[in-house]
Amino acid sequence: WRAAAGPTRTVLLAAPRSFCAGVERAVEIVERALAQRGSPVYVRKQIVHNTHVVADLESRGAVFVDELSAVPEGATVVFSAHGVSPAVRAEAADRDLRVVDATCPLVTKVHTEARRYADRGDTVVLIGHAGHEEVEGTLGEAPERTVLVETPADAAALEVPDPRRVSYLTQTTLAVDETAEVVDALRARFPDLRGPASADICYATTNRQDALRSIAEDADLVLVVGSHNSSNSQRLVELARRGGTPAHLVDDTGDIRADWLAGAATVGLTAGASAPPGLVEAVITALGGLGRVAVRERETTRETVRFTLPSAVRRP
Ligand code: F3S
Repeated sequence: WRAAAGPTRTVLLAAPRSFCAGVERAVEIVERALAQRGSPVYVRKQIVHNTHVVADLESRGAVFVDELSAVPEGATVVFSAHGVSPAVRAEAADRDLRVVDATCPLVTKVHTEARRYADRGDTVVLIGHAGHEEVEGTLGEAPERTVLVETPADAAALEVPDPRRVSYLTQTTLAVDETAEVVDALRARFPDLRGPASADICYATTNRQDALRSIAEDADLVLVVGSHNSSNSQRLVELARRGGTPAHLVDDTGDIRADWLAGAATVGLTAGASAPPGLVEAVITALGGLGRVAVRERETTRETVRFTLPSAVRRP
């Protein structure tokens, strides 16, 4: 029996991993909207950045669109977990769309901060990745007062109308260590810099990075389950590599290459916040098909965060 041959490989599972509370809520919102209103339910952009989640909801009657112009007048549209700009909300209202908002409450918090900082007359520096949907939504709160900064070099070169009135915000899914460097560069340039009362990088991003760091230092190889457009999953891969452990992002078992596993006695395994837990199980099964595996989970913290559903879909 081939699976029994050779030395046992250890699979070191990071915990927490996989779905966060915001993703669970967003997926449940689409499921409930489908159950209550029937198909089609339109969803603006990918509900969360995972190809499997999107394909599954599509098979159940969700219709994913890039722009609201593709949604028929009066239809139901769900806004994705990444949030939308006020301009998108206005367009939905103009077109009489029935909006169900799946924006993660922790993204909404950042939008609220953006408005507050802009209203007090500050230049708002948003630390994040250009083109990401969350960043586009947050930038839209006060577009004339907000500037996007991606790196410490951007921060060092930034010119603002009044250097004493500068506040910063961040995308929720950035690398904690890299973001600290950008904030330091901003503070060096603008000593009166003000920021959020508590970090904008969310609990789920932070916890998954802490868990990843713990397994990566004891692994020969790290596999991160997640899709390529998932910011927090990409950050996990980069973090492992920065620590010196080879790491790869895999959407599913089909992406795993045999040559990565050669000589990898301990494989660290985790998943980004948008990747379903079942995909992690499938990776373990696939590794088991290549030889004996012993699975050990290392839990660095336990998550208890839950978000309530919006009233539009709350009745069972
Ligand atoms: Fe929300 Fe953080 Fe998840 S912002 S959607 S809890 S990754």
